[in-house]
Amino acid sequence: MASTVITFLALAVPIWSLPPLIPTQYPGVYQLTEPVDHAECPSWDDRNNILYYVNIHDGQVYRYDYEQGTVNYITLDGEVAPVIPSKRDPNLLIVGLGRSVAAVEWDGVSDPSETRILAALAPDFPTSRVNDGKADKQGRLWIGTMGYEGPDGLTPDEGILYQVTCDNLDSPLVEIAPVNISNGLAWNAANDKFYYIDSPSFLIVEYSYNDETGEISDRRVVFDRTAHDLLGDPDGMTIDEDDNLWVALYGGGRVIKIDSSNGDLLEIVPLPALDVTSAIWGGPDLDILYVTTSRVSLTDEQKLEQPAAGAVFAIVNLGTKGRPTFEVDLLGSIDDETCGAKKVLRE
Ligand code: BGC
Ligand code: CA
Repeated sequence: MASTVITFLALAVPIWSLPPLIPTQYPGVYQLTEPVDHAECPSWDDRNNILYYVNIHDGQVYRYDYEQGTVNYITLDGEVAPVIPSKRDPNLLIVGLGRSVAAVEWDGVSDPSETRILAALAPDFPTSRVNDGKADKQGRLWIGTMGYEGPDGLTPDEGILYQVTCDNLDSPLVEIAPVNISNGLAWNAANDKFYYIDSPSFLIVEYSYNDETGEISDRRVVFDRTAHDLLGDPDGMTIDEDDNLWVALYGGGRVIKIDSSNGDLLEIVPLPALDVTSAIWGGPDLDILYVTTSRVSLTDEQKLEQPAAGAVFAIVNLGTKGRPTFEVDLLGSIDDETCGAKKVLRE
């Protein structure tokens, strides 16, 4: 530091006219929660500053309360992903469960009394299961599935990306099929582009998106992980206020920042866990990147080396922020039989 000051004096240049010699911001990576086997699908509810995430294989839905600093969970009957709060009732959670879409009323304290199945998914692939999902601006649910993944690897081509609305609960609309592991999901600020990941393809793809009709079209590749000196499969993804994509690398130990307009790799943030599963912007100012990780595929040795694998991490000082995530708008309450009627849009 001392030599830096001397340099300034010798140059006799006003200190405020010099470019900073060292960056003023460094990302800070904090372990937020205790590890679980496979944390996934973080979602932020900005109405009451709650972070939801799941522990897929154990059927657990977690709720981190930013203001209280508490973490609670419930256990459902089946593999669970994603969890997204509802537009008309913050305690009404819409979850992917096994091969279905379900609703659960949970206030974060009491045990939920009921899980209501709303729609069945992937009837032709009985060993497949739900994976990532998000709501779009209209409150439609986009939820994907993936083929069975066991010790011998993944059953390919048994995943589907669906769009679920009140009008199609009996037969959810197939958006993209076949896929291997349905992941990613983000919309740009103008809400005319949709970003998607089929993890084993190593690609991030973009579609034109029509918010009025919910249609996607004109697929093009934005980013190919294999063209970079990086490891891992692109997994969950979120987007910041500048339309840069923040992508988890499963098996890559990193979150990467991609310019969605040209696919440039802008930033790499290492995490102390190899299997990084997803990311979402949260916090009262939406400037904390919450990142989920997994320990389920690690060897015993890797688990010793990565004691925090399976935790949720909070990354701060990234110099950008996100936009509020959308909520699902399917039901007004757990016993709402009308689905779609009595709509009260969020202020
Ligand atoms: C899935 C995991 C899978 C991983 C591999 C995740 O999205 O939830 O089960 O192992 O992707 O890429
Ligand atoms: Ca995922």
